[in-house]
Amino acid sequence: MDLIALPASESARVQKFLRGIFNPTGDAVFLSPAQMQWKYWESHPGWTGSRSYGFVDDSGEIIAHACSWPLSLRTTESTISGVHPIDWAASPRARGAGAELLRQIRELREISCCIGGTDVAQAVVRKSGFKPAATMQILARPLRPLRQALTHPRRDWKLPARLLRNTAWIVIKSAHAPAGWVAERVLPGAIPEAVLPLAALDLAVATRYPALFEYMSKCPTARHQIWLVRHRNEPRGYFVLSFVPGQARVADAWVLSRESEEWRALYVLAVQAALEEGSTAEITTGATLQEACQGAIACGFRPYGEIDVMLYDPNARLAGVKQIHLQMLDNDLAFLHNNRIEYST
Ligand SMILES: CC(C)(COP(=O)(O)OP(=O)(O)OC[C@H]1O[C@@H](n2cnc3c(N)ncnc32)[C@H](O)[C@@H]1OP(=O)(O)O)[C@@H](O)C(=O)NCCC(=O)NCCS
Repeated sequence: MDLIALPASESARVQKFLRGIFNPTGDAVFLSPAQMQWKYWESHPGWTGSRSYGFVDDSGEIIAHACSWPLSLRTTESTISGVHPIDWAASPRARGAGAELLRQIRELREISCCIGGTDVAQAVVRKSGFKPAATMQILARPLRPLRQALTHPRRDWKLPARLLRNTAWIVIKSAHAPAGWVAERVLPGAIPEAVLPLAALDLAVATRYPALFEYMSKCPTARHQIWLVRHRNEPRGYFVLSFVPGQARVADAWVLSRESEEWRALYVLAVQAALEEGSTAEITTGATLQEACQGAIACGFRPYGEIDVMLYDPNARLAGVKQIHLQMLDNDLAFLHNNRIEYST
């Protein structure tokens, strides 16, 4: 089977194929023409050309599809180019086409990464030679319990109990920034290089750069905001908030220190920024670093799930690395939603 980069003129056919496999209910925001254009064909600083790849059969019908989401990792020695497949699907009448597409897509870069996915996808990923490399914790915290209760999609006996619990939760874990810590909303280009994720001997980090934040800020289905974090006027880190119905997500974050106390300060500022924005009742985040998770928990986030990070690294480029810093921005977790409110807390 030959890998084909599908052009934007194939948008309707790709959409029809993915709709047939994923069988989405409701609006299927992830398949809206604007969202597909952005994910697959809008110019991306980390990829050249179309990111919509597939196989077609003899009659020209699409039988498998995946979008290459660029994801490179930085070690102390080099930057390693990588790819994460998203919107990955194969026709059941072409057995194994999905696994073959995964094999061919990962050959386009030095490494490949898969964060979570459906049960069948995870089984195929494991069988294809990907190995567990990290765990991403998903954490969440209520922002506005009353608004959450009034807009909650599940209206049952748990509703008042949840309102009481979440109200107590945010009172007990009220988020005050430590002295001297502030966050300021900035344009993507205003994040100084000095606060971008930095590799250490045992730590590889997802590569970040202003053009990537600029790309994210053009996402048509989830607003993204970029905030610079300062301590006593010195830039110390940044976070990216994305907004989906009912929920703010800390899609990406970094602080210069590996102390959980600094991560706590960052997450407090993210909570305040989300409250200030005003449209959501809950905030979530995803992180692989222990200190980030501990910092989030210390300001009232609770773990709601764990996602396996699977890595394909045929040339052992990450052999000496013990930890990998990845966030929601490294796959579609930053912006995926069903155009309806869904809460975790
Ligand atoms: C994930 C996917 C792309 C893999 O494509 P593929 O390699 O062509 O998959 P196959 O249909 O050949 O199935 C691969 C294996 O999963 C098994 N499988 C298929 N559908 C399954 C299901 N619904 N539940 C559990 N196992 C399933 C098959 O029996 C097969 O097992 P085997 O290798 O031991 O025989 C394809 O299964 C798919 O499109 N799934 C639906 C969409 C999806 O979940 N996408 C991933 C989003 S993260």
